[in-house]
Amino acid sequence: ARRVIFDTDPGQDDAVAILAALASPELDVLGIVTVAGNIPLHHTTRNALRLVELAGRSDVPVHAGCDRPMRRQLVTAEHVHGPTGLDGPDWPEVTTKAGAAHGIDFLIETIRAQPEKTVTILALGPLTNVAMALVKAPDIAERLEGIVLMGGAYFEVGNITPAAEFNIFVDPEAAAIVFGAGVPLTVLPLDVTHAMRSTPARIEALRGLGNKAGTAVAQMLSFSESFDLKKYGWDGAPLHDPCVTAFLLKPEIFEGRQINVEIELASELTRGMTVADYWGVTDRPKNAFYVRSGDAEAFYALLLERIARLP
Ligand code: BDR
Ligand code: CA
Repeated sequence: ARRVIFDTDPGQDDAVAILAALASPELDVLGIVTVAGNIPLHHTTRNALRLVELAGRSDVPVHAGCDRPMRRQLVTAEHVHGPTGLDGPDWPEVTTKAGAAHGIDFLIETIRAQPEKTVTILALGPLTNVAMALVKAPDIAERLEGIVLMGGAYFEVGNITPAAEFNIFVDPEAAAIVFGAGVPLTVLPLDVTHAMRSTPARIEALRGLGNKAGTAVAQMLSFSESFDLKKYGWDGAPLHDPCVTAFLLKPEIFEGRQINVEIELASELTRGMTVADYWGVTDRPKNAFYVRSGDAEAFYALLLERIARLP
């Protein structure tokens, strides 16, 4: 199985990405590191514990990472995810605890403890922890198999500002470090995730699974959808972070190419913009496999099949 570590700010869509991975024998989830993003860190950490408990996978360690971006004030998104970040289901009290080690140290030590080029970081939130780990322990850049992240945008441009996608916007300095680290990078931007819409029929199919996980996923997606539908006026809300898990499980349902991506840091107007040289108009080094599109039917079929395997 492919060894992965999640770095995440759950978030309903992070939750679905993590649950699908925990249900997949192709993936060995070595741990979950939390970061401040959609909601503050104490919420993201409790939410990660809720997810491993729901999946019956409390063997997967959860470690809390950074509670704020490297340089900027934290920007959150309760307007999308609700005050706890995982609004929708009626969650039971959490019974397990996060590990004592700081998330950054957990990342570094876990990557060092595994054979070279066998660990992939799946980054679903602001890139603070991943960047801090690369700064603290530059040797992990060489050791990683890769980083697959949800973030950025090309033609779809932005969701938190007209120019920037939320995860990159919240900690652009961290993103710049990650995009410049020389680690094989795969990026699932809004261009892909906006096509993966949780239509009422898809949510009902998840609810219809009848297991605890399917019900919770349907309740979570119905909650975050109420905001997104108004915003976009589409037939269903975009489902962002599960694209990362789906890319690991079935890369053939996505299309993209290797390009140069730089992060805008200086301008207030376009802070956190992912400047993507999709047409190769510069000779800047190609630093990311940029996914441009995906098959939504195949994506939801995969999610349904994986969530069905959980309790
Ligand atoms: C990203 O921002 C968060 O709100 C979601 O969890 C996702 O990671 C989408 O822009
Ligand atoms: Ca997220």
